[in-house]
Amino acid sequence: MLAIRLLAEPERLDTLALPVRPTDGGESRAEPVPVSTALPASVLEEVAALVPVTRLTGAPGETYAHLRPGRTPGRLLLVGTGDGAEAAWRRAGAALARAARDEMYVTLVLPADATPAATRGLVEGLLLASYRFRLTDTGPTPSLTGVDLVVADPATHADAVEAARTTGRMTALARDLTNMPSSVKNPQWFAEQVRSAAADLPDLTLRVREPADLAAEGFGGILAVGAGSASGPRLVELDWHPAGATTHVVLVGKGITFDTGGISIKPVPAMKLMRKDMAGAAAVVGATLGAAVLRLPVRVTTLAPLAENMVSGSAFRPGDVVRHYGGVTSETTNSDAEGRLVLADALAYAVRELKPDLLVDLATLTGANAVALGKRTGALYSENDELAADVLAAVEAAGEAAWRMPLPADYVEYLGSDLADLHSSPDRGAGSVTAALYLREFTGDLRDRWLHIDMSAPSWADGDDAELTGGATGWGVRSLLRWLATLT
Ligand code: BES
Ligand code: MN
Ligand code: ZN
Repeated sequence: MLAIRLLAEPERLDTLALPVRPTDGGESRAEPVPVSTALPASVLEEVAALVPVTRLTGAPGETYAHLRPGRTPGRLLLVGTGDGAEAAWRRAGAALARAARDEMYVTLVLPADATPAATRGLVEGLLLASYRFRLTDTGPTPSLTGVDLVVADPATHADAVEAARTTGRMTALARDLTNMPSSVKNPQWFAEQVRSAAADLPDLTLRVREPADLAAEGFGGILAVGAGSASGPRLVELDWHPAGATTHVVLVGKGITFDTGGISIKPVPAMKLMRKDMAGAAAVVGATLGAAVLRLPVRVTTLAPLAENMVSGSAFRPGDVVRHYGGVTSETTNSDAEGRLVLADALAYAVRELKPDLLVDLATLTGANAVALGKRTGALYSENDELAADVLAAVEAAGEAAWRMPLPADYVEYLGSDLADLHSSPDRGAGSVTAALYLREFTGDLRDRWLHIDMSAPSWADGDDAELTGGATGWGVRSLLRWLATLT
């Protein structure tokens, strides 16, 4: 990860980045932003003359590199910062990380009036956009290792940088877990990654249930979905429990380490990316570890039901009746509707044994998420207006996107089965909505303190775009960390 330093005076002036913004006259022209430290008059004069001829507009995401052979700084980078709000700085940080990828270090002098929120956006953009996932050392490696940020009073920005660093680190962890090929990433491997990431963090405890434990306690959904795989299922339970916490949140994340669809096998194009089907589990683990690193004063228990949905002689069959944790049964007409089966066990366990104040789950649950909302936006469901508004505000502040969807009473009858309490894959209604209605059946007393996000679509990016890099996005880590930080 990039090393970010906060300084009151620049120390390395080989490459100097300076902010520009749109003029307020609306002429689509950029102007330099007055900065927090005294720079040589010759540099300021050169920048003032340079900016108008660059054709920059000052929009966030714009950069312009200017060479000054034989002089110091030898390279100037102009960075568009738009309206100077956090979101604009996140874009600016991402653009700077890309523009400076071939430097060793860059020094960015911030505006004289930069807020901690601006710094947080900037550092998140720098860290998120410079993420790379590689399993081998081939190919070009960016040389950028450090970014110095010059601000008038470093102490007032220290917490913002710390929050951004934790956000960047935990999003990178979630991206790493999600990008990893499923030849490596089986349920046991995922649980071991959680164990090593959680080691050395105080007040954090981990319990991993193995198949025999799951059988003894009646986790029939997780066992059914995992039955066809040579790599047995697991249930990760990670508990951040700071002394004095009054609110208890349970986070649940879908952890299918590969989804073939099972006996209801997926066609080739649909199966191609199914190593990402544990992105929900990766996000809730990342957020919980982030809460522990930042020592947020709220108890967070994360449940990650982990299984590989495979085709084999021991796989569960379409039409099997699964008995979930707590005893509710499901008729499983389509083995590709596996996510809800593992989530149902975890939700029922949370309600009965953990009894939290709030229950939130994230899942790459349906292809219908993208049909309804496109590639960038999660589908958010809750009966609780306040909880929905709070989480949506955190999602927005974090620079992610979600849209609240309905839980229509009219569709509940689609969940009916002649054989069992519920039918897991209704053939009517809207796919993402009926999946949410199915999960709601397992929320018991917490029905109105539950929130679900179907984040199949935004869990993956087709290519680099602002702070996203092609591949896993780590969607949800940023939003959950923001939201958890608002709870006490
Ligand atoms: N993991 C998939 C959902 C998915 C699809 C995630 C595309 C990301 C991209 C899930 O297990 C699934 O297969 N859902 C089915 C549900 C159906 C069988 C009721 C779907 O969406 O088609
Ligand atoms: Mn599936
Ligand atoms: Zn799935």
